[in-house]
Amino acid sequence: ISTAVIVVAAGSGTRLGAALPKAFVDLAGQTLLERSLRSIILLPYPVQVVVVAPADFVADAEAIAHKVAPGLEELVSVVNGGTTRHDSVAAGLAAVQSSVEVVLVHDAARALTPTTLFADVDMAVQATGAGIVPALPVVDSLKQVDVTGGVLGIADRDQLRAAQTPQGFPRAELEAAYAAAGSSDYTDDAAVFAANGGAVTTIPGDEVAFKITTAWDLNRAHQVLGGIPD
Ligand code: C5P
Repeated sequence: ISTAVIVVAAGSGTRLGAALPKAFVDLAGQTLLERSLRSIILLPYPVQVVVVAPADFVADAEAIAHKVAPGLEELVSVVNGGTTRHDSVAAGLAAVQSSVEVVLVHDAARALTPTTLFADVDMAVQATGAGIVPALPVVDSLKQVDVTGGVLGIADRDQLRAAQTPQGFPRAELEAAYAAAGSSDYTDDAAVFAANGGAVTTIPGDEVAFKITTAWDLNRAHQVLGGIPD
């Protein structure tokens, strides 16, 4: 096995307003975690999958993994998450098998991410040896503001991209970057990787790989699936 996918699912999901952690919220009959895992398991080659779950939901995550990938227990495992996303990714990295050369890190909350995006990121890491981020152009005008909302300046959106996941990296460099990271303030893995001197390149993202963060996003996901929004 040369590729591992770490699926971070240990967030609380407070912005979604649900009683459950976000990855365990239902979307048209399947949890967000289940949908993310189904997309990964459809890759045409075997990959290791490490699910990072909240401590109280490790058993639930194991049940979901078993349902999605019966008989693949040696390839799919569940580990305890941390307080921050950064800590959760570090916990996932510690469980990656020794043969793995490319690590993809994916937000379980991007539940509709197509299988092709995982394959594209994996292939791009193998072809370039760089960190790979799927990203989309920014359509809104962007303003830098102060605490009162006053506009301080603008950013040139043509030079900006919105980063999605899965983000892919050569395994050794990602481990070194996490070992060296002095702060947990980075919001994605590419930032950790770049802070340690790693080169990061974007490839085209996918609109349906949006992160389900708010109730509005969950309704949007229902609509994408062709269901009736809540
Ligand atoms: O909070 P945010 O939406 O940025 O979280 C992105 C992803 O990171 C989610 O899939 C969430 O479950 C995961 N996460 C985690 N551990 C944390 C915080 C977030 O695995 N402590």
